[in-house]
Amino acid sequence: MRKPFIAGNWKMYKTAAEAESFAEEFKKLYEPSDVRVAIAAPFTQLWALKKAFEGTGIGLAAQNMHWEDQGAFTGEVSAPMLKEIGVDYCIIGHSERRQYFNETDETVNRKVLKALEAGILPILCCGESLETRDAGDQNAFVEAQIRADFAGVAAEDAKKVTVAYEPIWAIGTGRTASPEQAQDMCGFIREVLKDIYSEDISEEITIQYGGSVKPANASDLMNQDDIDGALVGGASLKPADFIEIIHF
Ligand code: 13P
Repeated sequence: MRKPFIAGNWKMYKTAAEAESFAEEFKKLYEPSDVRVAIAAPFTQLWALKKAFEGTGIGLAAQNMHWEDQGAFTGEVSAPMLKEIGVDYCIIGHSERRQYFNETDETVNRKVLKALEAGILPILCCGESLETRDAGDQNAFVEAQIRADFAGVAAEDAKKVTVAYEPIWAIGTGRTASPEQAQDMCGFIREVLKDIYSEDISEEITIQYGGSVKPANASDLMNQDDIDGALVGGASLKPADFIEIIHF
């Protein structure tokens, strides 16, 4: 059975001091449950959060990584560097990275393969723009992303990947996909994964929805058959809001 998995994506918010005060408040409110929880913080906050979350069961995620272990790549951070400080997950291929930093399915795929090799669990983002949805091409678009991003990933490793479906038109806009729209796409993604791998594998892969998830809409989204979790942006910045979502 798939366990619910709720991850917060802080994006480029919070200093290390702010992250520490978040962690103190969050730990007071957090009670371990059946729901898997992680926070994806900027690189400079990961160390402080690792220490703050010690022994709590709260997972730690990075928001990006490079596909090489080391090299002349100024400004980049590699999987072994993240692994050394105890990072559990890494968001890969977020639409903001695809949009503003020229990430392509090819680089996303390299990162997914490297994360798996390094023992870091990828949270692989996919999702269409408003233009693509308005043209009715969203399924073909997301299918192409999934097929390209999973290229060369072995079946046993595929189970370790979390797919986050984040329609770009719902990110930071307050315009959430309806539970039906989100379910339709998450169900479709599972069909694509079944076609690539097998029914058994596709049933084991966690699929999150992301895009304006809030305390008020979390349970409707989480109650859909193929939605196993959420990737939460803005609402993960406040401990009380994020806790409410975890307790959907
Ligand atoms: P918001 O929840 O702020 O819409 O962001 C979603 C997101 O991009 C999470 O990765």
